[in-house]
Amino acid sequence: MGAKFVLVANRLPVSVTRTEEGFSFKPSVGGLATALSSISTEKILWVGWPGLPSEEFSGNKEEVARELQALGCHPVCLSRQEIETFYHGFANRTLWPLCHYFLQYTVFDPDYWEGYRQVNRRYAETVAELADEEAVVWVHDYQLFLVPGLLRKLLPRATIGFFLHIPFPSYEVFRVLPWRREILEGLLGADLIGFHTYEYARHFLSSLRRLLGYEHQLGLVTTETRAVKVEVFPISIDYFKFARAAEDPEVQARIEALRQEVGDRRLILSVDRLDYTKGIPQRLRAYEVFLERYPEWREQVVLVLVGVPSRTEVEHYQELKSEVDQLIGRINGRFGTLSWTPVHYLYRSLSFPELAALYWRAEVALVTPLRDGMNLIAKEYVATVPEDRGVLVLSEMAGAAAELSEALLVNPFSQEELVTTLREALSLPRDEKIERNRRMKERLRRYDVHRWTREFLAALEEIRKLQETFVSHQLVGGSREELLLAFVQAERPIFFLDYDGTLTGFVSRPERAAPDAALRDLLSRLARIARVVLISGRAPEILGKWFGDLPLTLVAEHGVFIREDSTWQLTGDYSNEWKETVRPILELYADRTPGAFVEEKPYSLVWHYRLAESELGEMRAHELKEALLDLVQPLGLMVLEGRKVLEIKPREINKGVIARRLLAEGDYDFILAMGDDWTDEYLFEALPPESFTVKIGYGLTRARFRLEGVAEARRFLEELWQKKTSSTPGPS
Ligand code: UDP
Ligand code: G6P
Repeated sequence: MGAKFVLVANRLPVSVTRTEEGFSFKPSVGGLATALSSISTEKILWVGWPGLPSEEFSGNKEEVARELQALGCHPVCLSRQEIETFYHGFANRTLWPLCHYFLQYTVFDPDYWEGYRQVNRRYAETVAELADEEAVVWVHDYQLFLVPGLLRKLLPRATIGFFLHIPFPSYEVFRVLPWRREILEGLLGADLIGFHTYEYARHFLSSLRRLLGYEHQLGLVTTETRAVKVEVFPISIDYFKFARAAEDPEVQARIEALRQEVGDRRLILSVDRLDYTKGIPQRLRAYEVFLERYPEWREQVVLVLVGVPSRTEVEHYQELKSEVDQLIGRINGRFGTLSWTPVHYLYRSLSFPELAALYWRAEVALVTPLRDGMNLIAKEYVATVPEDRGVLVLSEMAGAAAELSEALLVNPFSQEELVTTLREALSLPRDEKIERNRRMKERLRRYDVHRWTREFLAALEEIRKLQETFVSHQLVGGSREELLLAFVQAERPIFFLDYDGTLTGFVSRPERAAPDAALRDLLSRLARIARVVLISGRAPEILGKWFGDLPLTLVAEHGVFIREDSTWQLTGDYSNEWKETVRPILELYADRTPGAFVEEKPYSLVWHYRLAESELGEMRAHELKEALLDLVQPLGLMVLEGRKVLEIKPREINKGVIARRLLAEGDYDFILAMGDDWTDEYLFEALPPESFTVKIGYGLTRARFRLEGVAEARRFLEELWQKKTSSTPGPS
C-alpha cells in the first residue's frame, strides 16, 4: 500500500554530506527546511534531494537510502549534470533571481529549462510510485513548479497542495519568462496553491488571468476542467522552541560564552544564507556610515554577521562572498582597535544552541533583505529575545513585514533610513521595546507553524469537497443508459440546444463562430427524430444566416424572437427606446477600453471585452455595471453577465420563459436541454423536474447531468441519433 501523505520538496529536512568516515546527515538550512522539519514526521513520507550528486554515493546508494528511510525520507538522486541544469541552472539562475526581482541576474537558457522539466518529471514519477492513488501530496517551492501538473496526470485522484516559499513576482516581471505559461499550467495541477502574502497571491492571479485567461472569484480559479483555490498562509515558526530556548542548558552555555566574548557591548545581529537577495552589502555599508557619523557608538557596539554558505557554485553568490569579505575587512581595518573588532564574521552554519544564544543576546537584529518571501530569522529572533531587550529592524520587502508591523520597518534600498533606524533601535526606550515585542510575540504564539500546517491541510480538504459538487453527475454509465432508453421510447421529444459553448467553441469575434458542415449535418438529422430548438443569445439575423435552411426552431436573443417556420416572430411587446439612453454609456466604456466593442441586437446591447487586456477589461466591466445600476431598474432592464460580455436587455426575457411557452403549446414526452453558460441556467430551472438537463463543462449548475465539453456534447447527440435510428425502422 502506498503512502497516504507525502511531502515533496527539493531539500529534504536533512542533507547528506561526505566525510572521511563515510556519510553524515545534518539538518538542512533555509526557511523551508526549518519550517517543515517542525511538522510531526509520523506517517509522513518525505521525498527530496539529499544534497549530494549521485556520483558521490559511489555504490553506497542503498546504504544512504536506508538511513534516510529511517528518518522518513525517500531520496531523489540527481546527477552532476542534472544539478547543473536543474538546480544551479533553472532553479537558481532563472527562477530565484526572477522571483526576487533581480532581472539583471536572470539567465534564460533552454538547456536549463530542459533539465528542470526532466527533474520535475522524475520527482512526479517518484511520488507516483510511492504514494497511494488517493494520497495527499504537498509539493513545496519554486524548484518543483511543474510537479503538480505532472503528478495530476499520474495520480488523477490524489489531493495535491502546492506552497510557494518565495515571492511570486508582479506580472510585469513574470511575463518575461519564456516558459511562463508552462509554469502556470504546471501549478494548476494542484487543488490548492498557497502563498505567504496577499500580494504574492494577487500577482499570481493576475498572471493567470493575463497569460491563460482564467478569472477567479475570491481566489477560486475555474478552468475548463477543474477548480483550483489560491490562498494566503503566512508561514511561521515553532514558537515555543525559540521562546523557551534560553531554558536549554546548551543554549545557556552558549549565552555564557557570549558574555565572555562580547562583554557589555551592544550586540547587533545579522543572520542569513549568503544570498544577494538578503541585502548584506547594503547593511554593512550602512553600519560603516553609522560608525563614521556617530563616533560615540564606536567600541560600544559589535556586529555579529552570520553568513551561511549557500549555492556556492553560482557566480553571483561567489561575487557576493568576495564583496562581503572586502567590506568587512575595510570596516574592521578602518575602525577596529586592538581591543575592539566592529564586525565578527562567521561564514558557516550554526547549531541551534549557537543561533538561539545569539538571538537571545542581541539588542538589535538587522533583517534587511532587498526581497524575501517571508524571512523566518525575523520571527525566530522576536520569539527568542527577552521582551525588554530586543529591537527588530525589518525590511519592508520581506513577507514578514506584513505581520510584524511593530518592528522598525525600513526600506533597505535607502542607506539613510538604515543608518538612522539603526541608531533609533539602539536608543529605543525599554517600555517601547516591551510594547512592540509583546504584540509580535503574541501573534507568533497564536499563529505558529503547526497552525500554518493545519490551516493549509484544512483548506486542501475543503477545496476537494467543493470540487465534488462541481463535477458530480457525469452523464455516463447508468444515467446515460436511462436517458438513451427514454429517448428511444419517446414519441414526441423536444431538444433545447444552446449554440456557443455547447455546440461550438468560443472564438475571439462572435461572428466567426459559424457552424461547420458536420454540425449542420448532425442538426438536420436530429431534426428528423425530435423537435430541435436552437436557443441562443445571438441576433436573429445571424442565426437565420447560419441555420435558416434547416428544419429547426430558432430562438434568438434569449427569447425575443422565434422562427418556427420561415419567418421571425417577436415573442412579446418589448421596448427598444431604452437603447438611446444606454448605448452612449456602453460606447464611452468601449472607447476607454482598447479591444472592447458594442454589439447591437434588435432588443439588446452587448458590451464585449474578450479582446481587451484582461485586467483592464474586468475592471471596466465592473465599473460599467456599477454605472448602469441606477438605470436598469426604472427602464425595466437587466444586465446579464456572460463570458467576457455584459448584455443589457428587457428584464422579462430569458431562455426559461420561452422554453416554458413552447412546452405549454405542445405535448412532449421527452425533454432534453443542453447549455454551458449561466444564461442556460434559466432554462434548466424552468423545465419540469423529469427533463434531462445537461450542463456542458465544469462549474456549478442546476442541471441534472454534465458533459465535459463541446466535443463530448456533439458525440452524445450523435449517439442519440444512432440509438434512435438503429432501434426504429422509421426515419430516413
Ligand atoms: N538557520 C540555520 N542555521 C544557521 C542559520 C540559519 O538553520 O546557521 C535557519 C534559521 O533558523 C531559519 C532559516 O535558516 O529558520 C532561514 O530562513 P529564512 O526564511 O530567514 O531565509 P531563507 O534561507 O529561507 O531564504
Ligand atoms: C529558500 C528556499 C528553499 C531552499 C532554501 C535553501 O528558503 O525557499 O526552497 O531550500 O532557500 O536553499 P538551497 O538552495 O540550499 O536549498
